[in-house]
Order: sequence, then C-alpha cells, then structure tokens
Amino acid sequence: MAARELKPNSGLFAVGAIDWDRRLFDELIPLPDGTTYNSYLVKGRDKTALLDTVDPAKTQVLFDNLRELKVDRIDYVIAHHGEQDHSGSLPAVLSAFPMAKLVTNAKCKEILKDLLLIPEERFVTVADHETLPLGGKTLEFILAPWVHWPETMFTWIKEDGVLFTCDFLGSHLASSELLAGDARIYTSNKRYYAEIMMPFRTSVRQHLEKVRALAPQMICPSHGPVFDKPALILDAYRDWSSEQVKNEVVVPYVSMHGSTAAMAAHLIEALMKRGVAVKPFDLPKTDVGELAMALVDAATVVIGSPTVLAGPHPAAVYAAYLANALRPKTRYVSLFGSYSWGGKMVETLSGLVANLKVEVIPPVVAKGFPKPADFAALDKLADQILEKHQTNTEVIK
Ligand code: FEO
Repeated sequence: MAARELKPNSGLFAVGAIDWDRRLFDELIPLPDGTTYNSYLVKGRDKTALLDTVDPAKTQVLFDNLRELKVDRIDYVIAHHGEQDHSGSLPAVLSAFPMAKLVTNAKCKEILKDLLLIPEERFVTVADHETLPLGGKTLEFILAPWVHWPETMFTWIKEDGVLFTCDFLGSHLASSELLAGDARIYTSNKRYYAEIMMPFRTSVRQHLEKVRALAPQMICPSHGPVFDKPALILDAYRDWSSEQVKNEVVVPYVSMHGSTAAMAAHLIEALMKRGVAVKPFDLPKTDVGELAMALVDAATVVIGSPTVLAGPHPAAVYAAYLANALRPKTRYVSLFGSYSWGGKMVETLSGLVANLKVEVIPPVVAKGFPKPADFAALDKLADQILEKHQTNTEVIK
C-alpha cells in the first residue's frame, strides 16, 4: 500500500498495510473482507512520530511506505495497544530507528515487555492527558481502557482535530479507499463491534462520551477506513451500545436428523406470524461473525439443540459459549430441542449462559420428532416472547 496523506498538507500520513487475503483473526474471527493494520506518521516541525505499527507479516509494507516518504528519523513511536496486529512490528521499527523512544502508558509498557521483550530503556511512560509536542502539533494521550484490552489509549491532535482511536471504532475491511464511504463500512463496523467491543459496552459508552466531547473532525482507527465524517460511526456506536433492543429473536440451532430443525422451522414461522423479526442460524453452516452481529440488537435468543452423548450438540455449546462471552444486551433466553432416551441438554446449555442478565423463558423439549403438543408448546413460546417484547419499554416497537 502506498503512503497517503490524511488531509492535504497536514503532515499526517497513513503508512500501514492492507491485508486483502487474511480470512481469520485470532484463529477465531472470520474476515470475509480482509483487514488493514493502520499505522500513521505524524510530522511535526521539530519531531516525527509513528502511531502504532502493523502485523509482523506486513512489516516490509510499513518500511516501504516510510521509505517512500523519505523518513530517515523517527523520534517517537506511540503504542496505543499491546496486541500484536499493531505492536508486532515494534521490535523491527525500534531496531531500524535506534534513536526512537517508545511512548505508551504504564500498563501497555508491561504488556509490550512481556509480549515482545522490548527493553525498559526504550520506553517513555505517559499518563492520562499528558502531552508531547512535535512542533506545531501536540500529541495528547487519552487513556481508554477496555476497548478491548485494559491498556488501550487514544492520541488526540488538537491542532488538526484528529483523533487516533486504535481498535475502537475500527473495522476489518480491506479497501482501497482511505476514507469511509464504501457502503460496506456500516456492516463491517457492526461486525467488528459485535466481535470485539460488545463485551465492553459500559466502557464503550464512557469512551464515546470522551470522543464526542473532543468534537474531532477526523477519526483514525487502526483497522479499516478513516472517518472524515465522524457522526456516521459515533451515531452507530451510540445505537449499538445503548440499552435499547429490537423486536427480534435470534435462533441459533443445530439438528442431526431433522427433529430440532422441524421445531426451529415451526418457531420461526410462529414468531413471524406474530410480527416478531427472526434471524435463524443453522450453526454448522454459520459464520460466527454474522451470529455475533445479530446478537447486537436482538431482544431474545432461543437456542435449539438435539441431545447427543447425553448433552447438547457441540455446535450449540459453542453458540451458547460465544453468546455468554460476548455479553449482548439480550433480555430473554429460551431453548428448544429433542432427545431420544434422556440427557441433560437443557441443564448444560442453561449453565453456559450464566453471564447473560436475562429472563429465562421455559424451554420446549420434544421426545423424538415433535408431536402436535410440542408444536403447541412452541406456539406458546412465541406468544410469551411477543408479550414480553410488547411490554418491555426497552424494546423498540
Ligand atoms: Fe487490532 Fe486488539 O488489536
């Protein structure tokens, strides 16, 4: 990727890398649209700073971009976050620029020492709102813990009205466009919010307030395009992290021989007839990012599983574990499924969602293929869901 200036004659440059082909992050998160590792160069009158680096696989791209800009001196490297997709090239950069100081907060310093074995003498430690003048540009460091690690921070350049937010407000979207505007950006950002930020909703709301108070003209995250119209992403984050939920039911299910699938089909139709939106996910064929996105807004989750080896199907266990870890703002949970001779499917799945502060609606379990009484019980479940959605003032009607 060629180096690009963020605004004409600003002295602010994007020098990171596009990873068009990466399809999995953390060996967990699907990347249907690839990703970027954004690194930014800030040229002041007197000093030059590099904000974050790139994933180690793309170190050469970063060096090529610095060479293109004829950068022969870096005074400061700013580390907003310790995770290696941004910090992984730090050892190479610090080796190539031996005079550079690594600037970060105390918590991030310890993480970088642990993960990358960076020696103590390279660090300059900064506190919340401490500033670093570069000549005509002043970097202000703003601690922003838990988006999504405890050591994360932002950098604000008041003179330019530009805020660098690292993972916060980012997206896994490889794009040739520097600025947001691509129609995919909303979806990519929502997917990223769901997978990375949703478990930290309280911190997200606090940091959103900090960002709004600065009234930035431009927001530069460390993944995906830059926002030159910040309202787009700030308004989206306000909605996603709010306490309001939608009149929607997410139905992740798995079926081995069709019994649970028949129950899923009946429940989906029953909910639709009642005017409740449904997002079903046949788990073995599901992109977990799509499931995570659906969990952002839905008022209710109903998980369907057969009984296998006396417990839930592993695919349903995975979905329940994921939902529990992502801590969506779901208000109601229920379960359905079938068994042949017994087991603890319901008990095991219920125990896996203990993090969710939800009301549990009684599950529907069929012995073998569902009979008329089982379908009637699913109709009753749909009635209960509708009634709860209608009477809960936090559900958007
Ligand atoms: Fe993009 Fe938490 O690293």
